Amino acid sequence: MKIGVLGAGTMGAGIAQVAAQNGHSVVLVDVNQTVLDLAKNGHVKMIHRLVEKGSLTNAECDQILGAFHYATSMSDLKDCGLVIEAIIEDLTVKHSVFVQMESIVDSTCILASNTSSLSIASIGSALKKADRMIGIHFFNPAPLMPLVEIIPAVQTSAETVELVTHLISSWKKTAVVCKDTPGFIVNRVARPFYGEALRIYEEGIADFATIDWAMTSIGGFKMGPFTLMDYIGNDVNYAVTESVFQSFYFDPRFKPSFTQKRHKEAGYFGRKTGRGYYDYSEGAILPSPCEDQELGKYIFERILVMLINEATDAVFMQVTDAEGVDLAMTKGVNYPKGLLRWADEIGLDVVLLKIEDLFSEYGEDRYRPNPLLRKLARANEKFHA
Ligand SMILES: NC(=O)c1ccc[n+]([C@@H]2O[C@H](COP(=O)([O-])OP(=O)(O)OC[C@H]3O[C@@H](n4cnc5c(N)ncnc54)[C@H](O)[C@@H]3O)[C@@H](O)[C@H]2O)c1
Repeated sequence: MKIGVLGAGTMGAGIAQVAAQNGHSVVLVDVNQTVLDLAKNGHVKMIHRLVEKGSLTNAECDQILGAFHYATSMSDLKDCGLVIEAIIEDLTVKHSVFVQMESIVDSTCILASNTSSLSIASIGSALKKADRMIGIHFFNPAPLMPLVEIIPAVQTSAETVELVTHLISSWKKTAVVCKDTPGFIVNRVARPFYGEALRIYEEGIADFATIDWAMTSIGGFKMGPFTLMDYIGNDVNYAVTESVFQSFYFDPRFKPSFTQKRHKEAGYFGRKTGRGYYDYSEGAILPSPCEDQELGKYIFERILVMLINEATDAVFMQVTDAEGVDLAMTKGVNYPKGLLRWADEIGLDVVLLKIEDLFSEYGEDRYRPNPLLRKLARANEKFHA
């Protein structure tokens, strides 16, 4: 099957590479020739690096690089069996390209979006034949991150879901099907990793370095929340938080933080601007954490139970099942363990008690324990058998 990718930026170029490495002919389209040239150079560089590492033979390298067709016109998508759109995150622009695409491709061609924050139903509404519309959400960098969220919209046919899930799994990716709800799985469940860390900082309980130390040294996470936000970019991370907050009708669980907003407003985006929560300029000394074990344990447990509460909500609201949440968080954002397996290990009664403590201390809706957690704890049950 010929695969089309629309948009050759960060995500599109990566998705096109994944498809080509899995034996497909790929048409990569972008309105901007400079972006296309950059994507092409990136592909050549990356595929040659795999040859140097011994992961690919010279013949495979030639075959993969020969599989790409770079184009500035959407008409080149004509013979594709699947087109994945990865252009600017703007519903009006996406609508216009989906209408154009539908007039070019065959009636059996599946049309997908890699959107992070728009609903798949809203994008699909532009199509005449909307049962072929689906969300295929890759993570950055697409060639390296194993998770792909597959998001059927209310319009999507069961056949489309099955075909896409099968195809993405054949690309050696972990495909997890989830509901068309804001943030899908990862961008919803991960919110407290940032939000609760920011809250702990704002309350003056600990500084950035200490919170990061607690989550990495005690929690076993690869990166602390502030290091990670600086890596993602505070502009990008704040935009996701604000979008999830608005999309959930301003549920206080997702309330953005003034600290992050001010950092964003100041241009302290993180690594890319040389300054975020930390100073990345040459010669700058990173602050040392206060390595108080008791404080570290408090920080880690508070953030972890909030993550577990959010993961539980995704299961409670049928976004996906417990296995799906755990796969998503380990394969999409490298969490050291699946959150719900982690909860099983700690004991759901213990987790619930910690959330209830926060709820009674603060009296804020943000800390309300999820009903499913209460139900399972009461019945002495677990998420996983
Ligand atoms: N960057 C991430 O980490 C990430 C992760 C997952 C999903 N996404 C989603 O993927 C999509 C793309 O994000 P990105 O970060 O790759 O963006 P990007 O800005 O790097 O690339 C977008 C590309 O689309 C091109 N483009 C814009 N309008 C076009 C049109 N009408 N036809 C053809 N090409 C057009 C632009 O020239 C640009 O090269 C967005 O929907 C975003 O929400 C991004």
